[in-house]
Order: sequence, then C-alpha cells, then structure tokens
Amino acid sequence: MTERLVAPQEQPADTEGEVLRPQRLSDYIGQKKVKDNLSVFIRAASTRGEALDHVLLYGPPGLGKTTLANIIAAEMGVSIRTTSGPAIERPGDLAAILTALEPRDVLFIDEIHRLSSTTEEILYSAMEDGCLDIVIGKGPSARSIRLSLPPFTLVGATTRAGQLTSPLRDRFGVISRLEFYEVEDLKAIISRTASILRLSITEDGAEEIARRSRGTPRIGNRLLKRVRDFALVWEDGTVNQTIAREALNRLDVDPEGLDQIDQKALKTIIMTFAGGPVGLETLAATIGEESVTLEDVVEPFLLQMGFLQRTPRGRMATARAYQHLGFSLPQSRTETILFQD
Ligand code: ADE
Repeated sequence: MTERLVAPQEQPADTEGEVLRPQRLSDYIGQKKVKDNLSVFIRAASTRGEALDHVLLYGPPGLGKTTLANIIAAEMGVSIRTTSGPAIERPGDLAAILTALEPRDVLFIDEIHRLSSTTEEILYSAMEDGCLDIVIGKGPSARSIRLSLPPFTLVGATTRAGQLTSPLRDRFGVISRLEFYEVEDLKAIISRTASILRLSITEDGAEEIARRSRGTPRIGNRLLKRVRDFALVWEDGTVNQTIAREALNRLDVDPEGLDQIDQKALKTIIMTFAGGPVGLETLAATIGEESVTLEDVVEPFLLQMGFLQRTPRGRMATARAYQHLGFSLPQSRTETILFQD
C-alpha cells in the first residue's frame, strides 16, 4: 500500500516534528477544555509538591497525545520516560522502567490498550499503591517480594479507549478525550509551523491547508511541507491560497480533506452497496484495506464530517456524502431521510 499523505499516523518524514512540537501548555493551540483542566491539575499537584494523578489521553491519531504527555512533564518540571504497549514484552520490562523512575517523573505509555494482561496487572498495584509485586524464582521455592516505588504519573495514550479493561481505566484520575481541531486552530498551528520553518505564508494559504487537514495537526504540518515544495518550484516560495489549492488538488487531497481512500470507501458504499448499510469487514475487503485501518483511521473523520453514519446494521453513506461526491440521492433514500425528519 502506498503511504497516505493524509494518514494521521506518524511517518518517517515527520521526524522534524520534534522541533515543531509545542513545549509548554501556553504554546499548545486548541483542545481548550483539556488544556484548561490539565493546567489546574498540574498547578495543584505542583503546589502540593506531589506527583500529578495518572492521566489517560484518548482520541484519534495525530491530535497531540504524545505532545501533551511531554508538556505535562515539562510543566511539572520532571523527566519523562516514553514507551509503548507493544514495546513492553514482559512484566520484567515494565518493572525495570518503574524502578528507574525518579520521584514525580512521568511515564508515558503510548498505545496502552496493547499491553499484555500480565504486564497490565503489574501496573494496577504500581498505579494504586505505589508498589511492585514481583515473583522471584520458580516452582516451590518461588517467593513474592514487594518493592515500593517513587510516586510517579502514568500518562497513557490510546486511540481505542473502549479496548481498555475497566480495572486499568478506573485507575486513571484524569481521563481526557482529544477532539478533532477546528479550522481556526489548525490555521494557527500551520502559521506557527511556517514561522518555525521560516516560510512565508498568507492567511488564506494557511486557511486552505487547514480546511484540508482532517482536523489533525500532524496532517496539516505534513501538507504544509508538500505545498512549500510547489510554492518554491512554481513561484517565489510564498504559500498562498492559489498554490495551496492547486498543490493539494494535485496530491489528491480534496477541498474537505478527503483523499482517494476516503473517496473509494464512500463511493463503494454508494455504488456497490446502494448507499449501505454494509458491514465493516465487507467494506474493508471490497476496497482492499484492513478493517482496523478503516475503523481507526478512515472512519472517525468521515463520521465527524457527517459523510458516514454508523448504524446497527452497518455503515451508510449520508446525503452529504452523495452531494459531495456528485451523486444524486436515490428516491428511496430521499424518502427515508424525509421520514426520519
Ligand atoms: N503542532 C502540532 N500540534 C500543535 C498544537 N496543538 N499546538 C501548537 N502546535 C502544534
């Protein structure tokens, strides 16, 4: 499969993301509710001289969960240790990480829903009682010892909060959902990135890119870098609306940010399945994508934009999808929609 320009997952070309990432809460644009609440909890914990309570961040990829974890550590004035659910293979790996933490440090576990159940159990007592129960030896001579840990903050991130077991979810004191960004916020993020990259960009150029970024800063920054290339080769390097529009059309990112995979998914529902409902697995097989990719990456944005509807019997294309892709609504759908109203 070719890499999607609008894939929200991190890609090798995003490595300079480190330079672009805001370092403090005051530089972080958007997600106002999450930010305002975190700011209170951080200040309260700092005033008390305690570790911040454990934080779970969830929501679609590319919205800034890792960035926020780093900001939390910076605001608390502590170090951060970063790992991920699949990287922790055995409980011993987690024990080694936990015992090496300094008091009040942040441990960031990305994709926390992918921890193995044995590793997850170690986390329960670490999070709740600040201790680690480890078994030494095997068979009849095996014995369990309890180590006490320095107070720490676990920041967990996941795209699938529903897959977390409830004992784990219940141990987070702060649970925050990140939302897709408004165009205005994305515009500000893209302008900020352009200034860090010393790029000249007009207001309407930033807005054009923002509108096609699927509510996702990581995609906005990636599109900006591609448009920058066209601006340099076609004109004097300034990113304006005309260049952004033409460059993104050429890259098959449409005015609403849909790329060929999104369009293929919607067109397949409309043309092959008469608008739906169609099951996720059937749709994935028909368009040749993995069902998890479809569910985690393609669908959330199409749902948010009102192009797709999830019903108990499967996925359906909405009237808005028909209109956007230039199809007329079949008579039967018009009646259904009128009836539902
Ligand atoms: N770069 C990526 N995400 C950002 C955000 N939320 N605020 C500022 N800059 C960003």
